[in-house]
Amino acid sequence: MSKAPLPPLSLYIHIPWCVAKCPYCDFHSLAQRAPLPEGSYVRALLDDLEHSQEGLQGRAIDTIFFGGGTPSLFSGAAIADILEGVGRRAALGNDCEITLEANPGTIDSSRFQAFCEAGVTRLSLGVQSLHDPALRRLGRIHDARTAHEAMEAAAGAGFRSFNIDLMYGLPDQTTAEAEADVRAALAVDPPHLSLYELTIEAHTAFAHDPPTLPSEDERMAIEETVTQAAGDAGYDRYEVSAYARAGYRCAHNLNYWRFGDYLGLGAGAHSKLTDAQGVTRMARNADPAAYMADRGRIASRRRLARRELIFEFLLNALRLTEGFSQDLLRDRTGYDFTDLESLWAPAFARDLLGREGDRMHTTPLGRRFLDALLAEFLAATETMPAEAS
Ligand SMILES: C[S@@+](CC[C@H](N)C(=O)[O-])C[C@H]1O[C@@H](n2cnc3c(N)ncnc32)[C@H](O)[C@@H]1O
Ligand code: SF4
Repeated sequence: MSKAPLPPLSLYIHIPWCVAKCPYCDFHSLAQRAPLPEGSYVRALLDDLEHSQEGLQGRAIDTIFFGGGTPSLFSGAAIADILEGVGRRAALGNDCEITLEANPGTIDSSRFQAFCEAGVTRLSLGVQSLHDPALRRLGRIHDARTAHEAMEAAAGAGFRSFNIDLMYGLPDQTTAEAEADVRAALAVDPPHLSLYELTIEAHTAFAHDPPTLPSEDERMAIEETVTQAAGDAGYDRYEVSAYARAGYRCAHNLNYWRFGDYLGLGAGAHSKLTDAQGVTRMARNADPAAYMADRGRIASRRRLARRELIFEFLLNALRLTEGFSQDLLRDRTGYDFTDLESLWAPAFARDLLGREGDRMHTTPLGRRFLDALLAEFLAATETMPAEAS
């Protein structure tokens, strides 16, 4: 493990505030109650980076992602200050992809322009649906007309790429409504599209007061229809929920799915960092006030055991349609395909996993039952010895 090259490094910057909390959302986000402490938060992020140099291990940052929460609540000037400060504290890779998540209810086209001028190369727009009753049911702060305007603005602002997030399998949604959402989003020709099936997450308002979702058969029909619509329009489904035109895959998320390293800055942000001793996971203090005051900025730090590494590797890499190569598995976990024969065998026998040359990937059946397959891998890896990574 220690002889493998260090994985590529990404930077994640968490902006934890939103205008309102959506009832389905379990991301670390807080409804904004007062003016945002932009200046203090920017200083805290840069101070955090200053003190995280050891985690970089001399590597350049290949991608940057402003996620949330709602990063588009920050001004163009604040995003410019962060990027300028990052550039003074770390080397950036060539053509560094810089993504920023935006909520259609928080922007106007001048703000998009300012993000672009600050250095953002890719905008990710959380549209969710273009059907007003569905947006109301999801507790969104914008309506379909505002979402249409935001999509047009994103397309015209000069970003190298932009993504549209849609959710499907929504309360009372019909197949025709889900298909109409995808077609309306495709009308602005986004280079990238993310299609997420609505999940009822524990500890959300939807978990406490569940909406009526389409039946399992209906949800499967909706999934088939939206996947087909994106495929017919020329988008490659390269990951469970991600579709892209040629040359526009999301480099930041690809680094997660290939089990690369990331340094997460900001309240509640998570990191995965490799050094000669192994892989460490860290979480920043989730409370923004404590994070800004630097009261124990790193809330937890844990070295992963090798069996955890294997499971986490599979959790990520099996989401990719192309799966993973023997070399990637060895570099990230220290194991060869042959070392883990007993882990794969039951999945091969049931046609859930396939292997071509030096690559392993899920079959169409395995993709459909990915959660169940991963649960089996978790149970199997938990019986392995708990040696350090
Ligand atoms: C961290 S959110 C950020 C986007 C931005 N805050 C917004 O909502 O406009 C990223 C995306 O995850 C998806 N998402 C969030 N919660 C989900 C859930 N419970 N089920 C499925 N997708 C979800 C949404 O499509 C959302 O745009
Ligand atoms: S705006 Fe986005 S991050 Fe905020 S609560 Fe809604 S889905 Fe979650």
